[in-house]
Amino acid sequence: MFNRICLITGSSRGIGLGVARVFAENGARVILHGRDENVLRQSLATLVDPVKHTYVAADLNTAQGPRIIAEGFLRLQKKLDILIHSAGVLGPKVPLADYPEAAWNDVLRVNLTAPFLLTQALLPALRKGANPSVIFISSSVGRRGRAEWGGYVVTKFGVEGLTQAWADELKEENVRVNAVNPGGTRTQMRAAGYPQEDPLTLPTPEEIAPVFVWLARADTQITGESLDARDWIGRDPAL
Ligand SMILES: NC(=O)c1ccc[n+]([C@@H]2O[C@H](COP(=O)([O-])OP(=O)(O)OC[C@H]3O[C@@H](n4cnc5c(N)ncnc54)[C@H](OP(=O)(O)O)[C@@H]3O)[C@@H](O)[C@H]2O)c1
Repeated sequence: MFNRICLITGSSRGIGLGVARVFAENGARVILHGRDENVLRQSLATLVDPVKHTYVAADLNTAQGPRIIAEGFLRLQKKLDILIHSAGVLGPKVPLADYPEAAWNDVLRVNLTAPFLLTQALLPALRKGANPSVIFISSSVGRRGRAEWGGYVVTKFGVEGLTQAWADELKEENVRVNAVNPGGTRTQMRAAGYPQEDPLTLPTPEEIAPVFVWLARADTQITGESLDARDWIGRDPAL
């Protein structure tokens, strides 16, 4: 992954930051993203060789958020090799019968509309990348719905469909688009979704990173797939 350029949304913490750390260890140049510059500066400092990497800040729950990220990125780089959409929100855990419309709109915007618009805005830069790879983050509930997770469920089904449609449209141009289901991972979001669970029983974001490394490599060819990160834990993504 030496010097491959990688933008990861939602990498101020959680899965995005864990994957960013592993990418940095593998020689990639990483652009972190989150909403708060102070937090992002601290996150950046945890990467190997922090001066090699940078960040952009923007709120994806706004109409202009994806454009701000794309413009911020394009001020720094002309080409993009790897785009990972890790920013996400859980939304309220309530029955659909009671799901507030405002929360529904927020969850759909952050989890589904924003990654669609950001991919669109960065497509010219991805087309200049070397075997470019776009990775969406799905979930088990993106394959089978679950009570009281309504808005989140719908966005993850949407992410699976978006992955397949982008992959099909971009296959002739060799822009690869895949999804990853992380499985339960030790993060703030997981703790909010499963407050009774002991986080120490879960893999860390760094432990689930091998599948992301493999999808990001310049010599990986697959597109239009949805992979389970749990299947890759402990595997050497170079093999
Ligand atoms: N953890 C799991 O077990 C699990 C399982 C299945 C799927 N996933 C998926 O994995 C992805 C990452 O989740 P995670 O567990 O790492 O969550 P997390 O620890 O809560 O991190 C979420 C990230 O998204 C960013 N974010 C949230 N709202 C945002 C907004 N409005 N604008 C911009 N950035 C925003 C946060 O940045 P700031 O708050 O700093 O702005 C943070 O960097 C999500 O798509 C999630 O659905 C996670």
